[in-house]
Amino acid sequence: MSRVAAPRVVNIADLRTLAKRRLPRGVFDYIDGGADGEATLRENSRAFEQVTFRPRSAVATTSCDLGVRVLGLPLQLPFLLAPVGSSRLFYPRGEEVAARAAGDAGTAYALSTLSGCLMEDVRAATSRPVFYQLYLLGGRDVALAAIARARATGFNALVVTIDTPVAGLRERDVRNGIRELLSFDPLAMAPFLPQLLRRPRWLAGFLRDGGLMKFPNVVLPDIGPMPYTDVGAALEQSMVSWPDLRWIREAWQGPIVVKGVHTSDDARRAVDAGAQAIVVSNHGGRQLDGVPATLRMLPEVLDAVDGRVEVLLDGGIRRGGDVVKALCLGARAVLVGRAYVYGLAAAGGAGVTRAIEILRSDIVRTLKLLGCSSVAALDRSYVNVEFAPTREPVPPPT
Ligand SMILES: Cc1cc2nc3c(=O)[nH]c(=O)nc-3n(C[C@H](O)[C@H](O)[C@H](O)COP(=O)(O)O)c2cc1C
Repeated sequence: MSRVAAPRVVNIADLRTLAKRRLPRGVFDYIDGGADGEATLRENSRAFEQVTFRPRSAVATTSCDLGVRVLGLPLQLPFLLAPVGSSRLFYPRGEEVAARAAGDAGTAYALSTLSGCLMEDVRAATSRPVFYQLYLLGGRDVALAAIARARATGFNALVVTIDTPVAGLRERDVRNGIRELLSFDPLAMAPFLPQLLRRPRWLAGFLRDGGLMKFPNVVLPDIGPMPYTDVGAALEQSMVSWPDLRWIREAWQGPIVVKGVHTSDDARRAVDAGAQAIVVSNHGGRQLDGVPATLRMLPEVLDAVDGRVEVLLDGGIRRGGDVVKALCLGARAVLVGRAYVYGLAAAGGAGVTRAIEILRSDIVRTLKLLGCSSVAALDRSYVNVEFAPTREPVPPPT
């Protein structure tokens, strides 16, 4: 029996437990943690509990259609895999493994700039859509080279993440000595090494996979693939601002998704900057702590864009019912981050496949219990919203 089959793994929380057992504490906490007091991290999930269903009982729904189109691309599931940096630290060839599992399930995979696998290998791993998530690490010329490479490789869309002018303060990372472990100074590293030695199975896989990954899609002049580094500092020197969208759009010449939109204002800016889709996202509570749950922000953003672009959402999705709630509130599709990463860290491709299967079967069951035969038919009438959605501030009278 597979390590991730029932009864051992029944839900995403079970995959999280297995991930925690397999990974060193610092690696697990890097995935699991959020910024500062982790209020936004908690709120993202809590908001889903504050939306309740209004089922239509005694409606026969023998089959359910889960298909959606994102940027015109058909997906067999209403969720796709979010860009997650450093996945190769979680499991050997992590990005490639996750992309393959997504493709086999009929959905898309978004590859982070901060990945350890070549974009060409990720593209080859799946016949379904792949998106390239862009950070401007290394500056404009390095980004232009990556954009050209993503185009030539056949990536379907560019995801420009705008909520990372600096990495959030992930307090767990500080306590676990992540900076010291990356310093390669034996004296600084020493107190934090036992956590790695306590996970020999992970360590053996990590070493077999080549040890600490580089970023092979960030090719620096004279240096080559960017060495693994304290990403916070690198991001600070390379933030994206709205004027950058223009040259990015010209270089890419394909669909652009702006990820990290929190407010109606930024949603309109993204539309003006030529985005075809936006992701209402607070980076899974890893950046600015104290912003509201994404689900609460969704109505404000939908109002602002008024159908001009596709609106996606991520943050806090741990069950298929959460996906259904986001779609009822108007998201075209959602991205899942930790939900699949726990599976990857627990058991590689089998774990990602299990995570996807858990969410898929949750969605089918929820649709049947709601008396609704397709995700396309979901709307506000299937839910009660028991929180106050965010509202655009009214400007003071002049
Ligand atoms: C470990 C980890 C690394 C991440 N790395 C990136 C990244 O490199 N680029 C990016 O745009 N978002 C990144 N994200 C954010 C995700 O794309 C997504 O917005 C978030 O995980 C959604 O919240 P959820 O984990 O609750 O589903 C990362 C998230 C996690 C958990």
